[in-house]
Order: sequence, then C-alpha cells, then structure tokens
Amino acid sequence: MAPRRKVLSIVGTRPNMMKIAPIAAELARRGDEFEHVLVDTGQHYDRELSEIFLEELGVGEPDYSLGVGSGSHAQQTARVLERLEPVLLEAGPDVVLVPGDVNSTAAAALTASKLLIPIGHVEAGLRSFDRTMPEEINRIVADQLSELLFIHSPEARDNLIDEGVFEGRIHDVGNTMIDSLVAMRPRIEAFDAPTEHGLERGSYLVVTLHRPALVDGPLLVEAMSRLVEIAEEMPVVFPVHPRTRAAMGALGIESASEHLTLLDPVGYVEFLSLVEGSAGVLTDSGGIQEETTYLGLPCFTLRANTERPVTTAMGTNVLLGLAPERISEVPALLAEAREKEAKVPERWDGRASQRIVDVLARHLPETPAVVA
Ligand code: UD1
Ligand code: UDP
Repeated sequence: MAPRRKVLSIVGTRPNMMKIAPIAAELARRGDEFEHVLVDTGQHYDRELSEIFLEELGVGEPDYSLGVGSGSHAQQTARVLERLEPVLLEAGPDVVLVPGDVNSTAAAALTASKLLIPIGHVEAGLRSFDRTMPEEINRIVADQLSELLFIHSPEARDNLIDEGVFEGRIHDVGNTMIDSLVAMRPRIEAFDAPTEHGLERGSYLVVTLHRPALVDGPLLVEAMSRLVEIAEEMPVVFPVHPRTRAAMGALGIESASEHLTLLDPVGYVEFLSLVEGSAGVLTDSGGIQEETTYLGLPCFTLRANTERPVTTAMGTNVLLGLAPERISEVPALLAEAREKEAKVPERWDGRASQRIVDVLARHLPETPAVVA
C-alpha cells in the first residue's frame, strides 16, 4: 500500500476556518490516503473569533497552536515565520495548504517555500488591484509561492495568467467557504436567530465592518451616525469585530439607539441564521459578499473595490464605494435589489473540497517530502 500523504493546513483568523474545515472533513473521509495536520497561528485568539468556529464546523483541536496574537504586520509575520518553521520540520508535510489572504497566509507560504515544501493556495487569484490593502500583498505573495492554485471564480484565472503564472498550476475547484455553508445549512435553518434577537424575519439589516480603511478613522463616525439614522426605518443588527470595537472606543463613538443593536461577534451558525433571515446585509467583509451571493440576498459593500467581482457581476452584491454617507440610501436600494435576478457562480456547489483533495491525490508524490 502507498504511504499516506501528509497535508498540513494553516488557519489563523475567523474566515480561514470556514475555508479549511470542509477540506479537513474530506481528508478525514479519505483517511486511508491522507493524514491531516492542522496548525492554528493564533492571529485571532478571542474565543468568538477562533475556537467557536473549529468547534461548530467540527474541525476539533489544532495539532499545533502558534499563539502569534496581535501586533504590527511585521510582528505578526515574523512570529509566524519563527514559530512555524520548527513545526514544519517536525511534521514533514507533503504539502502546506494556505487559505485566503490574511497575514498568516502569506507568512505561512513564505515559511514553507523556504523549506522547499509545496504549497496549495485555497482562494487563489483574487485581486482588488489596490496595494494599499494588506490582503492584496498577502494574495500576491501566496500565489507567487504556491504550486497549486485553487481558484473559485473565472477572473482569478485571468489575473494569474496576467501575472505570468503557468496555466497548469491553476485548478478551478469552486469555493470551499460555500462548502461550509452547504454543509451547515440544516443547522443554520434550524437556529432561528431572528426570533432569538427579537427581530421580524425579512425586516432588518445585518451589518459587519472591520477594514482598516473604513474603521480606523473618522469614516467610522460617519458610518455609525448613518446607521443610527436608517435604524429609524429598519432595525439594524451589527455584530462588532474587535478591531471596530477598539476603534469605536478610541473615537469616542457611543452609538446606542433603540433600533441599532450592537453585538459581540457571533458564531457561524448564529451569524448565517441572522443573515438568512434578514432583508439584506451591509458589509466590508470578503467572505460575506460570497455567502450573500450564494444565498441570493442583497449585499451592499462599503468599499472602494472588491477582489470578488463575480459577486457583483453575477450575484447580489452592490459596491457602494468607501462612502459611508451612502448608507442612507440602503433602505431604498434594498427595494430595488429585490428585483434583481442573480446567479450562483459555477462550482459554488458544496463540492470544492472534494475537487481539491482529488487534485492533491493526483499531484502529490507518493514518497515523503524532503525537508531541507
Ligand atoms: C484580519 C485580516 C483581514 C481579515 C480579518 C477577518 C490581516 C492583515 N487582516 O484583520 O484580512 O478580513 O482578519 O476578521 O491579516 N483583536 C482582538 N481579538 C482577536 C483578534 C484581534 O481583540 O482575537 C483586535 C486587536 O486589537 C488587533 C485587531 O483586532 O490588533 C486587529 O487584528 P488583526 O488580526 O491584526 O487584523 P484584523 O482586523 O482582525
Ligand atoms: N462571521 C461570523 N460571525 C460574525 C461575522 C462574520 O461567523 O459575527 C463569518 C461570516 O459568515 C464569514 C466569515 O465570518 O463566514 C467572514 O469573516 P470576516 O468578515 O471576519 O473576514 P473576511 O472574509 O472579510 O476576510
């Protein structure tokens, strides 16, 4: 019998968990062919931004926790480099999977590449063409260093080819974040978060905001006052990311109003149940643009650009710009959005992880990797 191939996956932040969980499940299902090692860098460490997802999505405890925590970009990146290297040397994986575009993604790719370990980038090829976003730098680094580029939308292929990537490295597998959504849908539908939060189904707006360009300065003050204003027309529920909570404190924002509910970040099932029961979503999140596209729910993205144009071209996403004053238009735009016909992109079907594991089965050597 051929030896089992060892796949080591990196998670570090909230959105990484939904992207890796279904791959972990598929690798476990094919446990006679694969061994899976999970490394949590600890970039996110609050329970409601980390463990809760590993538990809900059934991934279980990571095999290694690096505890890198918060810090400047250089500090976070450097801590991953230093702490991951001995783990890779000890575990000796045949491939390292890095999801998404966070600092842990780029740092892990750099660490693995220096040890000559092949890398697979899950969610490759997305580009905002805005290098002021830290995520854009992380995407470019991860793509350049990866041998296996797992894409989920057509423009990702074009972006990679424009950057000189050999087409044979690109694998159009679909969207593993949607795999999680498909797998968890029965639990999401059973949860009934609207009732739990005293909200009438189909009547309210869900908000998430966490990008530095919006929340780390005065635009957040404008955004919050517009949210208070529209909450008079429709209830608003806003699970607040810790970066945003800290910025609210620093800016002296006290946004209490009867119809604007600020929550701590909520778990995956509760969040998607809130989204599913809503009239629509206002966000600057990457993943939520995709989830609302899949669910066919109106999404308004408060950013100057999106690395996920498939969600505006085919889906329900509308790019408002980095313009918090436009929040006032949302109730009217929602009425228009309900008329729009939207499609779900090809291969956003719950089977992306199976395709990824099939690619791994074809591409990984049957002899263990040599680690320098
Ligand atoms: C990071 C990613 C971003 C992603 C987001 C998902 C980078 C550069 N950014 O942004 O792409 O969209 O995660 O949510 O990798 N904090 C806590 N508790 C935690 C984690 C963070 O309080 O568990 C606070 C700290 O004050 C920290 C701040 O949030 O300084 C920012 O955390 P960080 O991981 O640097 O970036 P995010 O804004 O979370
Ligand atoms: N999410 C969640 N609870 C929340 C907010 C978001 O479970 O309070 C989920 C959301 O459904 C999606 C992921 O977190 O699966 C997106 O993470 P985030 O917006 O932090 O990161 P991004 O996608 O912007 O990198």
